[in-house]
Amino acid sequence: MEGIKEFLHDRTGKGLLRILRPASYRKSGKICIGDREYIDFSSNDYLGLSRHPKLIEAAKDALTKYGAGSSASRLLSGDLDIHHELEDSIARLKSKESALVFNSGYQANIGIISSFCGVGDAIFCDRFCHASIIDGIILSGARIFRFRHNDLGHLENILKKERSRFKNTLIITETIFSMDGDRPNLKALVAIKSRYGCSLMVDEAHATGIYGLNGSGVVEDEGLSKEVDYIMGTFGKALGSFGAYLACSELDINYLINKCRSFIYSTALPPAVIAANIAAIKLLREEPHRRTQLLESAKLLRDGLKLKGFDVRGCSQIIPLVTGDNDSTITLADFLRDKGYWVLPIRPPTVSEGESRLRFSVIFDHDRSTLERLLDEIPNTAV
Ligand SMILES: Cc1ncc(COP(=O)(O)O)c(C=O)c1O
Repeated sequence: MEGIKEFLHDRTGKGLLRILRPASYRKSGKICIGDREYIDFSSNDYLGLSRHPKLIEAAKDALTKYGAGSSASRLLSGDLDIHHELEDSIARLKSKESALVFNSGYQANIGIISSFCGVGDAIFCDRFCHASIIDGIILSGARIFRFRHNDLGHLENILKKERSRFKNTLIITETIFSMDGDRPNLKALVAIKSRYGCSLMVDEAHATGIYGLNGSGVVEDEGLSKEVDYIMGTFGKALGSFGAYLACSELDINYLINKCRSFIYSTALPPAVIAANIAAIKLLREEPHRRTQLLESAKLLRDGLKLKGFDVRGCSQIIPLVTGDNDSTITLADFLRDKGYWVLPIRPPTVSEGESRLRFSVIFDHDRSTLERLLDEIPNTAV
């Protein structure tokens, strides 16, 4: 293939070359890379469930009972009773009629969006939506209109101008934004979708397990389960395992089973993963203190960083410390790594030019003394 060397050379020159760094273990909020153990601020294991004994036990039992793989796609012989048990518990958690499990959040978004929308339709999506949402829109062939991040006035202006030209229209946003840690005004968004006769889809990848009385997500927290048409989320972050789901009406789920290519043409998730997901959802009921403590810890770190004069954004367990340019982001990340903290710089194209940042991802296992030590050690301004 032409251009590969030039591509890599260009990224290296700009200091943007991505590399893999294998860990030899991860446990209790720590990660071992090379021969050093770090406090890990880069995982999405928000509730610390990935090593919870109940998830591991459930996965082991399923391995023994069903074997290592599911052997086929759901529509062939890969469909197990536990896939349905998981879908029933997701539908209940999300207060929706029905749910469908997908092999990953990426596969869910590209499949769901390209099934519900096509050429001649329009999708209005927040400018900061995840790459999997953008790829789903591109795959669908629908017209895309991106509104400024969380700027519902901008969305409404676009809708006033464009809505009448399209029959089917879908608005898409995230409920906790992955790089900014903030949330949209969901109530206002629901009012707009009703006013303009659009459907509304939300991605709860970073909210599932953490928000709402039952840990269902921001939609539950805002009491909007009925009003939001499509609630998508993942099992690979707070729920500590892998895979994704969509909760919506039974009619729409039956349509996806017949139409959605990323669901139809892929081997079903293995039984051990499904069993771990079921165990994780049970733990939301059994151990609600995990989400309470997580949010308290996040507040402690956020407030502390603000007091030190940093530009800290968002309102969740994801804490972006925006330094602006690449060099100061990398310098601060290197400084923290030297001190034993694993927190990675996020740079363009993941975020806009001039918006480089360190993304602190607080998890249940980060106790008060760890966070206070970090706040003591981090310099007042970029080093
Ligand atoms: C908002 C959002 N949606 C979807 C995904 C994709 O999920 P998965 O990692 O399960 O493919 C991610 C992953 O980072 C995400 O942050």
